[in-house]
Amino acid sequence: MGVVRGAGVVVTGAGGGIGAALARRFAAEGARVVVNDLDADKAAAVAEEIGGIAVPGDASSIVGEARDALGGTVDVYCANAGLASGGSEAADEKVWALAWDVNVMAHVRAAHELLPEWLERGSGRFVSTVSAAGLLTMIGAAPYSVTKHGAYAFAEWLSLTYRHRGLKVHAVCPQGVRTDMLAGTGSAGDLVLAPTAIEPEAVADALFQGIEEDRFLILPHPEVAGYYRARAADPDQWLTGMNHIQQKWEAAG
Ligand SMILES: NC(=O)c1ccc[n+]([C@@H]2O[C@H](COP(=O)([O-])OP(=O)(O)OC[C@H]3O[C@@H](n4cnc5c(N)ncnc54)[C@H](O)[C@@H]3O)[C@@H](O)[C@H]2O)c1
Repeated sequence: MGVVRGAGVVVTGAGGGIGAALARRFAAEGARVVVNDLDADKAAAVAEEIGGIAVPGDASSIVGEARDALGGTVDVYCANAGLASGGSEAADEKVWALAWDVNVMAHVRAAHELLPEWLERGSGRFVSTVSAAGLLTMIGAAPYSVTKHGAYAFAEWLSLTYRHRGLKVHAVCPQGVRTDMLAGTGSAGDLVLAPTAIEPEAVADALFQGIEEDRFLILPHPEVAGYYRARAADPDQWLTGMNHIQQKWEAAG
């Protein structure tokens, strides 16, 4: 794809799952790819496989090193690293804080570092791996749902604020994707995500189609558009429907 060939691309959380699929696809399209992951071995393995550059570490603090590795310019930044922080209002404060840090603040910090360069150049692309939970909500996972709403809100804010200055933003909002994260979501994931789960490569396909069509909202599960409309059109009816799923989950124990 023309806009990606030769581009300097950073993908966070790319040691496995969706991030690895994005990194592979960007490399296959001719981009130069920085593979970031907290797990240095996983980042190194994916980087070696695709001819990319491994920059291990916390997604919140790697923009400078990634920029250097790409020769001074980042063209595309994929804020993909995320935590499936489950639990209710009673989840530990540390769980809430870490979910905010990785699922939201890492995006804010990266944008803060990248925007001066992008605005000066008049171009840049920020890809946020949000989740359908950022548009709807996830049963049994308050920290995840709330922080993914935050990630979506931030992507939306970036897009409406800087689109006339050359910034492209994509919010990728899949439901279940067959990765280690999905495998770890337990009975709620089994009930609401597993039946329609897709492969990580399908998320990369949806992103590339969205890039080609210049769309902000990327829905690898197209049916999410209908759920999102239903939520906006009649919140109480939508909440009643979601509560039925909650009760089914409780009954399944
Ligand atoms: N799998 C799903 O069903 C699904 C659905 C919707 C959205 N998502 C989102 O997609 C993204 C990727 O999820 P996945 O399913 O591929 O997960 P995954 O757990 O398979 O992979 C995530 C990777 O991120 C890394 N990581 C975690 N914290 C990090 C940090 N602070 N800095 C750098 N790397 C870090 C992990 O080591 C791991 O390799 C997440 O943001 C997730 O919320 C996943």
